[in-house]
Amino acid sequence: MTEIETVVNGQPYEGEVEPRLLLLDLLRDRLRLTGTHAACEEGSCGSCAVLVDGTAVRSCLMFAVQAGGCEIVTVEGVGQPQALHPVQESLRANHGLQCGFCTSGIVIAAVELLGDNPAPTPEDVRTALAGNLCRCTGYESIVDAVCEAAGRSSDRDHNSEGGDRR
Ligand code: FES
Ligand code: FES
Repeated sequence: MTEIETVVNGQPYEGEVEPRLLLLDLLRDRLRLTGTHAACEEGSCGSCAVLVDGTAVRSCLMFAVQAGGCEIVTVEGVGQPQALHPVQESLRANHGLQCGFCTSGIVIAAVELLGDNPAPTPEDVRTALAGNLCRCTGYESIVDAVCEAAGRSSDRDHNSEGGDRR
């Protein structure tokens, strides 16, 4: 067992972990932060993304010991039901989710993007979310939502101005 100290959603966490314990399992099973979803568990889908020192990482590919000394933010730390983050509010308003399984990872990737680039183009959003798979929405409403959260119009807004919606 290895002792780690970290900060999760602003709260200090200190505990012993097995060297093989995944960050995903620490968050979900030990800290009960089940908004971080386990889907493929092999780094392919992005559902398990969390921010580690401000960078979106796949928690199924990171050991808990590697998070020692880091600041972790999960979807529970991004916003609250009574005080949604603009990305969360915009996903809700734009129907950017259906089953919601991908959504926490989408939120984390979008928050990272807007932190780096507060005014992304739709293409920037697509590139930033390229590693986040969604089986439900067809992605357009997600791109719209992230653009709207950034105060930008989406491709569809531009196209609809000319009457040309895809
Ligand atoms: S569960 Fe981690 S990338 Fe799919
Ligand atoms: S909303 Fe169902 S996987 Fe994205």
